[in-house]
Amino acid sequence: MLDQVCELKKIAAISAIDYIEPDSIIGVGTGSTIKYFIEELAMVSSKIRAAIPSSTVSANALKNINIPLADLNDVGELSIYVDGADQINHLGQMIKGGGGALTKEKIIASVAKTFICIVDETKNTKAFGTFPIPIEVIKIARSYVARECIKLGGTPKLRENYTTDNGNVILDVAFGIINEPISLEYKLNNINGIVSNGIFGARGADIALIGTNQGVKKYAY
Ligand code: 5RP
Repeated sequence: MLDQVCELKKIAAISAIDYIEPDSIIGVGTGSTIKYFIEELAMVSSKIRAAIPSSTVSANALKNINIPLADLNDVGELSIYVDGADQINHLGQMIKGGGGALTKEKIIASVAKTFICIVDETKNTKAFGTFPIPIEVIKIARSYVARECIKLGGTPKLRENYTTDNGNVILDVAFGIINEPISLEYKLNNINGIVSNGIFGARGADIALIGTNQGVKKYAY
């Protein structure tokens, strides 16, 4: 028996299947909500030419259901990218990277025509700040980046015993209430040693499918 939140993740994931165009290449994110999406993909795998995963974990899950993987470098256009989020606001801006895959997620999201965010309703937020911002950092820059984040008002915490797929570390940085996510996203982008940060403000979701107790609610931004 799935708990309530898992049920809501699952119905959101199932509803995203309708957005897959026949014979298309799709981007597939990372996380527990995406695990449900991949389970559903198994049932429509013949419809999918290939997938581009945002992590090794998702790559392995896709291989297990015999969906061919594609290299983003070989793909000029990507119709959809489906991924979860740690938080999403009313503009479709998100905080992502709880699963540590934020860098590839940002890259694939940049290429995709449509970013479909699948979440349960607990991820809905009015203002960012309760979930610390995951920041992927080149190892030697860890202390420098932490000091720069403190200058911006953040409280950094190293994600213990964790290395990203790209061989880097993650600092989870609590900034308090974030009133201007895009401005903070750009400031973080300018710090040397940061590979990417988990504010998906400049490139947010195009569609959110939010699992609620009243069914899946769709929002287009
Ligand atoms: C991974 C992510 C995930 O989308 C995010 O952490 C949400 O995960 P979940 O679906 O397990 O709640 O950004 O880097």
